[in-house]
Amino acid sequence: MRVYDLILKKRNGSALNKAEIDFLINGYVQGKIPDYQMSALMMAIYFKDMNEEETLNLTGAMVNSGDTIDLSAIPGVKVDKHSTGGVGDTTTIVLAPLVAAAGAPVAKLSGRGLGHTGGTLDKLESIPGFKTEMSLDDLVAAVSQIGVAVAGQTGNLVPADKLLYALRDVTATVDSMPLIAGSIMSKKLASGADALVLDVKTGDGAFLKDREAAFELARMMVAIGNRAGRKTVAVVTNMDQPLGAAVGNALEVKEAIETLKGEGPPDLEELCLTLGGWMLTLAGKCAHPDQGRDLLMKTIASGSALEKFKEMVRQQHGNDAVAEDLSLLPQAGKVVAVKAPSGGYVQRLEAEAIGLAAMSLGAGRENKDSVIDPAVGIMLNKKIGDPVQVGESLATIHASVDAQAELLNSVQKMVIEAYELQDVMVEKEELILGVVE
Ligand code: URA
Ligand code: CA
Repeated sequence: MRVYDLILKKRNGSALNKAEIDFLINGYVQGKIPDYQMSALMMAIYFKDMNEEETLNLTGAMVNSGDTIDLSAIPGVKVDKHSTGGVGDTTTIVLAPLVAAAGAPVAKLSGRGLGHTGGTLDKLESIPGFKTEMSLDDLVAAVSQIGVAVAGQTGNLVPADKLLYALRDVTATVDSMPLIAGSIMSKKLASGADALVLDVKTGDGAFLKDREAAFELARMMVAIGNRAGRKTVAVVTNMDQPLGAAVGNALEVKEAIETLKGEGPPDLEELCLTLGGWMLTLAGKCAHPDQGRDLLMKTIASGSALEKFKEMVRQQHGNDAVAEDLSLLPQAGKVVAVKAPSGGYVQRLEAEAIGLAAMSLGAGRENKDSVIDPAVGIMLNKKIGDPVQVGESLATIHASVDAQAELLNSVQKMVIEAYELQDVMVEKEELILGVVE
């Protein structure tokens, strides 16, 4: 087999077979295939797409490129969730302890943020002392003991994805459906959960801005999961505006704690109850997601969800007193209101722009070596559909004490431009767009 011939074959629109895909992925991971040929292949896939069979084979080849995690020592059906990445998406920090408190073990491997989207590990590390680095043995022990752990990737999981993602990131080939599906599902299959709930985001703040494309990605990932023997469900959700009110690491932990107390923003709570209801269903803890939702609401009301969060924080060496005293979380040195230059109803609130504004304050990474400031970010006081008076606070900027006026002005401008106000009332947008089983 020659790499050139396979690039040509894909470029001309033909499907690659399993042996060919294995050859390409293995060759690349072993360093036998140079970046320039793999880049050309990625671009050919971007334009010519892959069918379900090819995507399945791509995912399998990626899983086989490294270690896989065995969670079988943990009793029960282990259920995982994954989001394709949004702005202000704090769901994992709510869901992991919430679902665990309702009786389904959650061994969650999470990632860090890049660009306008945040990462769960960065958020959790804003809790004083919290450690996300865990050996596989410690992860299994933690989940066996208290039913939950949220950790960084341990071991050499899917090295093919690390290499391919870095390559795609600099060759404008991230937003290809089969490449996204292969990337996400290879990591999920390698991390060993028995069941999986996917939150596929669509809209301004998501990789896939187009709704139809999001449903197609959802169908593809559900097919891959089920064919690999994992019960998989995808919920397609709206990411036109950021989720909840908080965008920024410590701010989102605060919002997650409030949600675990039943005092969180309605959209974040709704998403957590929907995804969590499915997680409990797949874990066999209830017959239907609506029953799961009821169970979760009871878990919140009784205080056991918050208790489980505290247990998880203690288990991972963090200070669990943050759950009762939010001022123990890192606090921004400068807090500045963004005043509405005109009145009306919020028509649009561009998630990506808010994510980028938070990133420029230091809440996110411009490149993978950027250092994050856990305290900074943006609190949104108005969301789509809300009425706004001139001069009212649209949002609040949480900045570092040494943030310069220039930075504050530019962030203020970005936030104002992210809001589109109109005189006519607008309907609040639907958050849950559909479920693919
Ligand atoms: N998230 C991933 O893990 N991989 C992608 O390719 C896109 C989003
Ligand atoms: Ca949020």
